[in-house]
Amino acid sequence: MDASESISVIGLGYVGLPVALAFSSITEVVAYDTNSARINELKAGKDHTGCLTQTLPSQLLLTNDPKALRTATFHIICVPTPIDKDNQPDLSFLESAAHTLGPMLHSGDTVVVESTVYPGVTEDIIVPILESHSGLKMGSSLRVGYSPERLSPSDTLHLFENTVKLVGANDYQTAELIAEKYRQVVLAGVHMVPSIKVAEAAKLLENTQRDVNIALVNEMAMLFHALEIDSHEVIEAAKTKWNFHPYEPGLVGGHCIGVDPYYMSAIAQRHGLNPDLVLSARSRNESMGEYVAQKTIDILSDENIPAKAANVGVFGLSFKENCPDIRNTKVVGLIQSLEAKGVKTYVADPIVNKPEFEATYNIKVLDLEQLPRLHAIVIAVAHDTFVHCSPTEYLAHLQHPNLLIDVKGHLDRDRFSDAGVRLWRL
Ligand SMILES: NC(=O)c1ccc[n+]([C@@H]2O[C@H](COP(=O)([O-])OP(=O)(O)OC[C@H]3O[C@@H](n4cnc5c(N)ncnc54)[C@H](O)[C@@H]3O)[C@@H](O)[C@H]2O)c1
Repeated sequence: MDASESISVIGLGYVGLPVALAFSSITEVVAYDTNSARINELKAGKDHTGCLTQTLPSQLLLTNDPKALRTATFHIICVPTPIDKDNQPDLSFLESAAHTLGPMLHSGDTVVVESTVYPGVTEDIIVPILESHSGLKMGSSLRVGYSPERLSPSDTLHLFENTVKLVGANDYQTAELIAEKYRQVVLAGVHMVPSIKVAEAAKLLENTQRDVNIALVNEMAMLFHALEIDSHEVIEAAKTKWNFHPYEPGLVGGHCIGVDPYYMSAIAQRHGLNPDLVLSARSRNESMGEYVAQKTIDILSDENIPAKAANVGVFGLSFKENCPDIRNTKVVGLIQSLEAKGVKTYVADPIVNKPEFEATYNIKVLDLEQLPRLHAIVIAVAHDTFVHCSPTEYLAHLQHPNLLIDVKGHLDRDRFSDAGVRLWRL
């Protein structure tokens, strides 16, 4: 890479930081975030996302000064794309990033969007903002591409460097140029697609497919419970067929799988389509917290412990295992369902940031030592620390009927039963 060609990364969260770190191994990177607390945290060598596993590279320039973006010629946007309270796409962060970047662009610069969007957002919404501020024109003085981020927080196997990067751009030459940049840091290589819209759509398809498949397994798990069949035993059996895909039942939240199907359905509805399969799958997944709460209460009631007399621990609060990210976590709905039925809940998670969780959800988080004796513990998120706990360690927190609700089914059922723990799994 030409030494004069520095890169900017806009938005330094779960996605932007790994991207900035990867490129800073080969060139200077202007790492820009509007949140000065985030910049200061990183400058101090700390990182609440857990992505910073190395000392800060000297070529990484951390800044919240947008003027620093002028020194780069290749810009990568990694800002959030959440949904609003009506489950509609909220593009305000992305639009704001484009308003900031536009005036800093030079003729010949390249802009790549990595944030997850529905097809059309980059060309129809972001490019006009960039063009109006810069006076540049896509296709002549401005190069534009889209390259979805596919990493998954806390997944230590599938990283930015070893996951194939999709690249689509406004023309073939631009796609080649962007692909060449990514090839220098993404060892798994680049898959070029014919257009920006194909790249945008591929990301939506990947995540929507996952949501729909988990919803199917959740619905089947509910049936298996009604039939008194263990869903994990069924999945183990079905896995022996070559074309079966082994999804696990569970809570599906977070800001990707729990959000992107709404991006898909929003654009589908604008085109007069009725994405009822996708919306129904999302609604099935949204309902699982309530289902687990009701099952917990039913089992306690069978043991003569009415909901209003029950003390239930909820272990794990983030949206997925071994990850501190609490955005759109479905554990909150589970806790609220239990509380709405009169159960007293005590929640604990050694991984999440306690003040952040308490401020966001107005739910007190306890240390394990602060818990009273519990009639049941719901292991809502299978953090390693919970999966590796022995039956004796759980029994130290439990009293009759010593009930463990293992939502993800990661505990050894026979070992726990032998130790006198009553274990239920989704
Ligand atoms: N987290 C994931 O696992 C993951 C995986 C694939 C794709 N994505 C997608 O990547 C995008 C980013 O997600 P994330 O998880 O990194 O979000 P994040 O919230 O962790 O980080 C976003 C960062 O952008 C900053 N920011 C917000 N507005 C800004 C602006 N206008 N200018 C500069 N900085 C700004 C925030 O302060 C924050 O630090 C989203 O579209 C998401 O859907 C996320």
